[in-house]
Amino acid sequence: MSLYAIGDLHLHFQAEVKSKGQLTDKVWKGHERVFAANCAGLIREEDTLVLAGDHSWGRNLGECEQDMAYIMRLPGRKVLLRGNHDMFWDAKKTEVLNRHFAGKLFFLQNNYCPYTDGAGKAWALVGTKGFTFEGPFYLDRRRRVVGWDEEKEQHARKIVDRELERLRLSFEAARRDGFTRFIMFLHYPPTSILERDSDFTRMAEAYGAAQVIYAHCHGEARFHDSIEGRFHRVDYSLVSGDYLRWMPKKIL
Ligand SMILES: [Fe+2]
Ligand SMILES: [Fe+2]
Repeated sequence: MSLYAIGDLHLHFQAEVKSKGQLTDKVWKGHERVFAANCAGLIREEDTLVLAGDHSWGRNLGECEQDMAYIMRLPGRKVLLRGNHDMFWDAKKTEVLNRHFAGKLFFLQNNYCPYTDGAGKAWALVGTKGFTFEGPFYLDRRRRVVGWDEEKEQHARKIVDRELERLRLSFEAARRDGFTRFIMFLHYPPTSILERDSDFTRMAEAYGAAQVIYAHCHGEARFHDSIEGRFHRVDYSLVSGDYLRWMPKKIL
C-alpha cells in the first residue's frame, strides 16, 4: 500500500490550452500519454494517488468530462485537490462532486481522506488550495525587491485567511475522528518568494503534519520558489507534473 502525489496535469481533451509554456515546452508534448504510462507501471489498485490541483483547462464539468474520465482510468484510488485553474469545482459545492463521483474520485476540501500505510498506521490526508502573494513585485537594477502592489497584497491576505480557515476545517474534521498523523496538501506553495515561513507552515507545525506537499510551481524558473526538504521538523515537497517529469512522487 503506497501513497503517491503529483499536480498540474492541465488536461485538455476538450478545452483549449491557455498557457504558452504548455504549448511550446517539450516536457508537455504528449504529457497525458507519458503520465498514464508512468502510472500504469508504478501504481497498484490498492495504492492512493493524490492529484494536487490544476487538473483541467475545462471551464465547467461538461468541458472536463473527458479529463475526468482519463483520471478515473488511472490505477488506484484517486484523491483530488482544488487548483487555481479548476473552474469546474466550486469550493462550496464539493459535496455535490463527491456524490456525483462517489466510489470513483474523492474531492478533498473542508474534509479529509483516511489512508492506512503499509505498517497499518492510520493517516489523515488534509488540504486546501492555499494561496501565496505572487506580486507584481518591483525590482531594482540588481533585481532586488524594492516594492510591490499593495492592493494586490491586501487582496492576497483575504484569500490566504479564507484558505487557512478551510485548511483548519480539514485538520479539525480528521482530529475529531481521532487522527493524529497528517499529510498536508496545498496547490499553491506554502510560502511566497519573499517569505521564509508563513501561516501555512505554522499550521502544518501546529497540527504536527509530517509532510507538506504542494504543486502550482511549474516551468523551470518557478521550481525553487518555496520550501523543499526539511524545515522545522516538517518535510516539504514540490510535486508539479513537469517538475517530476510526469512520474508521481512516493509520499508514504
Ligand atoms: Fe498549474
Ligand atoms: Fe496553479
